Parts: sequence; structure tokens; C-alpha cells
Amino acid sequence: MAYLIGIDVGTSGTKTVLFDEEGKALASRTVEYPLHTPNPGWTEQDPEDWWNAAVNSIQAVLGESGVDASEIKGVGLSGQMHGSVFMDEKNQVVRPAILWNDSRTADECHEITQTIGAEKLIQLASNPALTGFTAPKAVWLKNHEPENFKRTKTLFLPKDYVRFRLTGEIAMEVSDGAGTLLFNVKERSWCHEILDGLGIPRDWMPKLYESTDVCGTITGEIAALTGLKEGTPVVGGGADNACGATGTGVVVEGRVLSSLGTSGVILGPSAKPDTDPQGRAHTFCHSVPNMWYLMGVILSAGMSLRWYRDVVADSERQEGAEEGRDPYDILTTLAEKAPVGSEGLIFLPYLTGERTPLKDPYARGGFIGLTIRHQRRHLIRAVLEGITFAMRDSLEIFRSLGVEINEVRATGGGAKSAFWKQLQADIYGCEIATIGSDQGPAFGAAIMAGVGSGVYASIPEACDAIIKVVQRTEPDAGRVKEYDEYYAVYHSLYPGIREACHTLSKKLAS
Ligand code: XUL
Repeated sequence: MAYLIGIDVGTSGTKTVLFDEEGKALASRTVEYPLHTPNPGWTEQDPEDWWNAAVNSIQAVLGESGVDASEIKGVGLSGQMHGSVFMDEKNQVVRPAILWNDSRTADECHEITQTIGAEKLIQLASNPALTGFTAPKAVWLKNHEPENFKRTKTLFLPKDYVRFRLTGEIAMEVSDGAGTLLFNVKERSWCHEILDGLGIPRDWMPKLYESTDVCGTITGEIAALTGLKEGTPVVGGGADNACGATGTGVVVEGRVLSSLGTSGVILGPSAKPDTDPQGRAHTFCHSVPNMWYLMGVILSAGMSLRWYRDVVADSERQEGAEEGRDPYDILTTLAEKAPVGSEGLIFLPYLTGERTPLKDPYARGGFIGLTIRHQRRHLIRAVLEGITFAMRDSLEIFRSLGVEINEVRATGGGAKSAFWKQLQADIYGCEIATIGSDQGPAFGAAIMAGVGSGVYASIPEACDAIIKVVQRTEPDAGRVKEYDEYYAVYHSLYPGIREACHTLSKKLAS
């Protein structure tokens, strides 16, 4: 039996999973770390935290599984997208990494759009300048920390930093390259026109690979530290969304992913690099060679729920601690007690601005429709409904662009709760399929390692062999109709409060 390791460098923690070649998870460990917000709208992490979490989680899965390291055929890396790691010539990080949900770069996005031209940018990079992407962060460094900009010699992403520590190789692969906005998505290569136009040195950008290519091997020093075997191949791996899609078998046209993690993602593979002319949905490279995907992202999906749990749900947290239950279970059970539409209460989940479809870092969240009748059950149900309405916005963009949607596969927190699965079926108006593995992007990264090391012939073949749909949740016609009406109200709300949100968020920044 061959074994594979997938490592997902996420926003709340790094998760390492050891799989056998049939896709069965033998051991899994997540090590958490903090997210720093030194200013409103800023999000940063210390790359050293990712590295320590990777080492600790690798040690843990090797210890727990008892698998001999020589039987591990490959390691695949997945990671949060767009996070910018700036490294100097001695390969030391220059400053904390700036993350995908950081919204400090509104001015830089404007500058990039002016410099390159809005249409040209979509033509070259297949995407508009959005605050989460990598290029605006590099321009921000030039504008605000010129000393750090001067010191920088390498710009790469969270999982690539962990790869560098594991193998000594500075490398990136196309699915994460695509999220930098410094990349020609159609051609799967760095875009010199954008790099030169923005004054970002071409030699900052690492050598590029496809996701299944081997780009390095575990060094002797790291083998001694982690327990892995020296020489174990490490493949390119992928952006967490490309890996999440791969790990759920969303690698062919017609299958669509609905992933509810910290962010919320609707993703549909395509054999052509089609773009949304309005730039609301992103076009990135998939982990399968010659495949791309369209993707809509909401910034605060699980983040809204976590905010509610931590800030509002004191009694549910206490009940959870007393009864040894997960507070999220208590909250979803409570939500079930409120009716469809939460008696006219709608939650807008724009707690860290919004990407799809608003493209607005100054968007702010809220409850609309509050009355004296509303109880805690209505509030939590409205939060879950609001997150799911926001996901539907992306699905509607896909529908308007003619994307084929034969099956929606759910993953992340939204696939673990029966209530939230049903909510997705009723709000999206289509069947929701769930698969046997719940290991998320780490599974996709391990599949890529399996292809790179010759365990599997290709990603689609591996997916067909080891990923099975285990449950299908059907929409209820009556609830679909009711939710269509609530969704129309949800969708109409933001334009009316946009100006107020901008005034409020600028007040906070001043
Ligand atoms: C995608 C995005 C997020 C992060 C989360 O564009 O910004 O989904 O990848 O880790």
C-alpha cells in the first residue's frame, strides 16, 4: 500500500492528513495559530507560525498512524490564496504576511487599474484588481514600506513558504500563481507586462510548475526534524480552492463546488479560461492541466458564524462547555426552531467587506428587518440564511454566464450540518451532493502528490477511483419558492446602504 500526505496551510490553522492510496484518512492533525489585525481591515500572519504548525502536524500524523516514512510516496501542499510573503536575499521574511481577507489596498487597486487599464487587466490577468489579491499588496509595500520593498527578493504565497522550508526550493504552481494578478491566466505564466507596468521586479517571482509536478524533495535536515524520509517528493500542490475542488472530485465541467469555510466559495471547472466580463467572478487555473475554473468568493462565511458564536452566543458557548457539545451544533439546532426567512429578518454577512458580487472593501454587515418579536433563534437562522444567500449570488452569476451546473457538491462546515445542507438545497434550488471524505483541501493536495509520484495516472482518474458521493439532499419545492422571495429582498438591500457603509468604514479608518 502506498501512502500520501496533504498539508493545508489555512487561515485558522495548518491541517496535515496522511492518506492511503484508496483515499482513506489514517491520521489528521490541525495546529491553530493567530490572525493579527494591527489596524481595522488589516489581516496578517507570521510565516513562522505556519512552519511550526506544519512541523508539529507532520510529526503528529506520522506518530499516530505508525506508517513507515519510506512508504510515503509524496507530499502535496495546499494553502490560503493570495497571502503575500516577502522574503529578502538571505531568505528571511521581510514583514508579516498580508492575507487574502486584508482590505488595506483599495487605493492600490485603483492605481493598478489606472496604470494597466481596466480592460487590459481582464484581458491579461483574466481578473480585475481586488483588495485580496497579491499584486495590490506588492504595490502597497512599495507605497507604504519602501525599505521593505527594496529588501524584498522573493514574493510568494503561504504554502510556498512551507515548501521552501521543507525542500529548500523557491517555487510556485499555476493555481496560486493565477491568484496573484501578476499572471497570465490563459497562458499559465507570469505576466511581464503587468509586472513591468507596476514596477515589480520580474525576478521576485518564483519558478512555476503545474500542480502535479515534483518541485523538490524533503531535505536531510527536515527529515530529521519531522520524521519524513529524506528525498520524499513534494509536488506543486495548489490553492486551497483548487485543492478543495480536487478533493471533492470537482475537476470536470458540470460539477460545481459549494465550500463553506472561513470564506465561502462557489467554483465551477471549465475547459476554457472564460471570464466574467463584469469581473465579479474570478477566473483561475485549476490543478488539472489545461483546465481553469470560475469562482465567486464571499469573504465572511464561517467567519460570520464564528463572530456570532464568539460575540453574541455566550449562553450557547456556556451550554456547549457544560454539556461537552460543539456550540455550532447548539446554534444550528436553535436555528431550526425559527421559520423560513427568520420572520422577516435578513443578515448581510459583509463583516470584512465583500468580494463577489460587490467588489467592495467598504461593505459592512448588518441585520435588517429587526422587530421586537425576534429571538435568538431568529438571529442565528438569519445568519445562516444570509451567508447562504450571499453564496447564491455567485451561483446566479454562473447561471447568467451559462456555466453548466449538473451537480453541486458541498464541502466545509456547510457539508457537516444536515440543516445547512438542506438550507443550501432550498436556497440554491438544486440538489446538494456530499462525498465520503471530509478532509477538505488536504485531500486534494494528497491526490496531486499521488499523481506526481506515479501512484495515480491523472487527477480525474484518481478522483473517479477514490471519491464517491455518499449523500444527496433534495430541495423542498415549497421552501424553494419562499426562499426565492427572501433572496430577492436580500439581493436588493446593499445598493440602498452602500453609501452609509462607506461613510461608516471611512470614519473608523480616520
Ligand atoms: C479565494 C480566497 C479565499 C482563500 C481562503 O480567492 O481569497 O477563498 O483562498 O483561504
